[in-house]
Amino acid sequence: MDISNAIPQNSNISVIGTDDYSKITGSHVVVITASTSVYTNNRSENIDKQVLMIKDIARKINQYCPNAVVLIVSNPLDVLTYFFQKECPFLRNKVIGVASSLDSSRFRYLLSKKFGVHQSQISDAMVLGEHGDTMVPVFSRVKIDGKSLSSMIKSATKKTLTSEVRNYWKSLRKYKSRSQFGIAKNTFDVICSVLRNKELSIPASVMLKGEFGESDVCMGVPVIINKNGITKIQEITLNNEEQKMLADSAQSIKKYIKSV
Ligand code: 2OP
Repeated sequence: MDISNAIPQNSNISVIGTDDYSKITGSHVVVITASTSVYTNNRSENIDKQVLMIKDIARKINQYCPNAVVLIVSNPLDVLTYFFQKECPFLRNKVIGVASSLDSSRFRYLLSKKFGVHQSQISDAMVLGEHGDTMVPVFSRVKIDGKSLSSMIKSATKKTLTSEVRNYWKSLRKYKSRSQFGIAKNTFDVICSVLRNKELSIPASVMLKGEFGESDVCMGVPVIINKNGITKIQEITLNNEEQKMLADSAQSIKKYIKSV
């Protein structure tokens, strides 16, 4: 009802609310933001109910728009992307968990504050792995004004920034109800990339089959997206510490998957 009021008079777009899944018939893109209940301390709090929910949604999407590119934005992000993918195994490149790009935006913002520079001066600030407590900010690739950050940053600062990016969502919860604009813009960019076939390079959660040494798990890795969904997983170079953190992050997600 609220979003409908934001449609300009001269727009041919309409927004409807419905619980009738047949209305998604033939969709090119489906974005899942559904949640069964609110979590407070950890994104995995309601994991069992959320997994039941995503399996049900996956079956409906399979029935009504099996060719859609599906963006999963609900939490626990990587676990839900995994179970959705298991329900529709033939759709590997079309199931995208959108969250690591949001974490990367947060990382870039925190770096810009820390180093007193504009966000646009920072490049290659990327967060990989779980959209959760083990996410991995990749410091080794960050550049400020084209210069590598590695020699300018102390390990204590890295530790603080890592904790800040991991807990960013809790600060948002403290100051306002939840994250909205950041995730909306990051999701919008993926939708545009798919609908306009505009190549987009971001980290996103996808089922891994050996990439970064991991299999049978979904987690945030650098990907290229276009109208077909994920066209490529980019196996970038990480330093030893980051590789280890990423492996630990994969283990954490696998543990959650097993617990369901
Ligand atoms: C976020 O990171 C809670 O996953 C949500 O804002």
